[in-house]
Amino acid sequence: MGEGKIVAGCLAPHPPHLVYAENPPQNEPVAEGGWEQLRWGYERLRESLKDIEYDSIVLLSPHWQTYVGTHFLGLENFKSLSVDPIFPNLFRYHYDINIDVELSQAICNAAAEAGLPTKMMTNPDFRVDYGTITTGHMFNPEWDKPFVVISSNRSTHYYSVEVMQEMMLELGRITRKAILESGKRVVVLASNSLSHRHFTTESDMPEDMSKEHITSHAMHLWDMRMIDYMRSGQSQRIIDEMPEFTEQAIAESDGGGLTWLLSTLGVPEYPATLHGYGTIIGTGNAIVEWPVHKYEEAKA
Ligand SMILES: [Fe+2]
Repeated sequence: MGEGKIVAGCLAPHPPHLVYAENPPQNEPVAEGGWEQLRWGYERLRESLKDIEYDSIVLLSPHWQTYVGTHFLGLENFKSLSVDPIFPNLFRYHYDINIDVELSQAICNAAAEAGLPTKMMTNPDFRVDYGTITTGHMFNPEWDKPFVVISSNRSTHYYSVEVMQEMMLELGRITRKAILESGKRVVVLASNSLSHRHFTTESDMPEDMSKEHITSHAMHLWDMRMIDYMRSGQSQRIIDEMPEFTEQAIAESDGGGLTWLLSTLGVPEYPATLHGYGTIIGTGNAIVEWPVHKYEEAKA
């Protein structure tokens, strides 16, 4: 094998409000719209990749939380109802997700060989987390590509951001190598918000955009700083500042997705494309693409 390729990497956040506002047939609640800046951002991301061929989507979700090692969805298909525990009024989604078990197993095996604790999830009744489903839906509403879904090992909480980063940098290098050896063309997604301090109450109508704004100026400054690093190709600075960012902005990078993504992409020095930024119940969310396909064409 060999000749596999990562065609793009994306920061693809998952607040369930985005699916709620889209009103897809799979979701039971009905909305009058809302959060358009971010939903248009996802449209631009999908448009950007529509002519790029790929086989599978590899995603790390901070809401599949595992304290002992990294787990991978390990059956061909998972189908059930997902209800957001915080927002059951917004998200009751009937999902049907196909898994690229071959690639999943390959990454899992490679991680185990490198000494990381791993496990394949093969319980057919396992409930897939809403982070995976929301990002999966917003990135690919047709659900016509198989996924590799990777859990969030909670090493930030059990140890520290520094330990989490060591583990996620290693998992990223392993993920990259396994993809290249698989012969497949793949998109990698980190499913997380940036600043994550949120309001503790919800307005009467959740989609009332007159109530939506960042929770504080400090959160805004952190989000803009990180986005600036992404847009100017300074991935290493993001990794270097991750402990302060994660702590001070209560950022959802605590789940390891962003560090893993940057490592899987080889800590890119080329600029990422910002497709959209917006707040959801006060949290900061950016939709960002590292266009590996363009960068490699330019080098060739
Ligand atoms: Fe989340």
